[in-house]
Parts: sequence; structure tokens; C-alpha cells
Amino acid sequence: MIPGNICTAHLDLEPFHCEDVKEEYRAWLSDWETVRLTAAKLNPSLNSLRDYVARNNADTNAYLWRIVADTHGAAAHVGNIRLSGLKHDHAELAILLGRPYWGRGIARRAIDAAATSVLSGDAHRTIARTPLRKLYAGILTANIASRKAFEHSGFTVVATLRDHAKVDGRFTDQWLMERFRLDED
Ligand SMILES: CC(C)(COP(=O)(O)OP(=O)(O)OC[C@H]1O[C@@H](n2cnc3c(N)ncnc32)[C@H](O)[C@@H]1OP(=O)(O)O)[C@@H](O)C(=O)NCCC(=O)NCCS
Repeated sequence: MIPGNICTAHLDLEPFHCEDVKEEYRAWLSDWETVRLTAAKLNPSLNSLRDYVARNNADTNAYLWRIVADTHGAAAHVGNIRLSGLKHDHAELAILLGRPYWGRGIARRAIDAAATSVLSGDAHRTIARTPLRKLYAGILTANIASRKAFEHSGFTVVATLRDHAKVDGRFTDQWLMERFRLDED
């Protein structure tokens, strides 16, 4: 479904439409380091990315935002954040930033903005639902930066799933992280 905007002092999360899929976004997924850290498909086509955006926007249990942040004095699309698999009042949260934007604190701010919104009364506005109880994330154990970014936003590792993903033909472990709504702790 198409979500509502989430605006913060440092960045905005905006609905992601098919026409927002540009070559720069495709290039982020042509970066081997990104693929190694996420088990994403290398070198997707623009059409397959437009399909991905359209499928998310049509899925009643998913919400996809573009992360828009100030870079060199102008607002730019720097990554995406996605809520998916909504059921039993919980959902999965996943994030991807373009490599030029890594290491500036964007991920922890974007994760915190999305999580705080959907776990609070703001959820009525941003995802047209009652607040969720819990969010979870799956992170390959090679991805220390992602683990730290989620920890900064109150997620904790609750399990290590062994040989849970395959990257370049090799199985790899994955952390399962979760964050409850504050009054559900
Ligand atoms: C993982 C990712 C989301 C992190 O985004 P980011 O904006 O660079 O992260 P932040 O700047 O908020 O930094 C997060 C923390 O990781 C640390 N960090 C960054 N790179 C690191 C590295 N290579 N090794 C260890 N720690 C690292 C930062 O120092 C920071 O910790 P600190 O605040 O305690 O200093 C981003 O690199 C990315 O999109 N990578 C490709 C896709 C991906 O991995 N998505 C997540 C899938 S679960």
C-alpha cells in the first residue's frame, strides 16, 4: 500500500512510485558490496525494479518509502525503507542505502523514524492501521553496520539463524533482531 510521509529534522520518508526508479537506484544494486551484505540480486533491470515497487505498492501487507535526505545542499533520494509481512500486529523492517550515502548516520535515523511512526499513534496516518506491537529485521552476520544501525534504534538480537541465507553460492548465518512498542516491553 502507499504509505504517508514521515518527516524528521534530518530526513523524510516519502511514498515510492514507479517513476521514482532511476538509473542511480539500479546502480546501488550493481554494487557487489551491497549484494554481499544483503543477498540481493546483482544487477537487476530497471523494469524489474519498477515491478518490485509496483508489487509493494499493491500489497496490502507492505509499505515502501524512499529515504530523502540533504546531500550537498539539495534533497536527494538516498535509499529505501520497507515494512512487509504485516500480520499479528508485527512486521519486518528492511533498509537499503546507496553506497555514496553510507556512514553518515542516515540508516539509524531512517530506521528510528519508520519504527517510531508505525509503533505509535502516528501509524493511523502513515500506514492507516492501529500501532504495531513489534518490528523485526533479518541481518546477515557480515553486516555489522546494519546491526549497529538497528541497535541504535532500540532493536536487539534475539537469535542467530544458522546457514539462513545464500550469498555467492555459500550459506551464511543471519541475526534476527526485534523491537517492541515501548509499552509492550
Ligand atoms: C547497512 C546500512 C543500512 C548502514 O547505513 P549507514 O547510514 O551507513 O549506517 P549509519 O551511518 O547509521 O551507521 C551505523 C553504525 O555502523 C557503523 N559502521 C558503519 N560501517 C561499518 C563497518 N563497515 N563495520 C562496522 N561498523 C560500521 C557506524 O560507525 C555506526 O555505528 P556508530 O553510530 O556506533 O558509530 C548501509 O550501509 C546499507 O544500506 N548497506 C547496504 C544494504 C544493507 O546492508 N541493508 C541492510 C540489510 S539488513
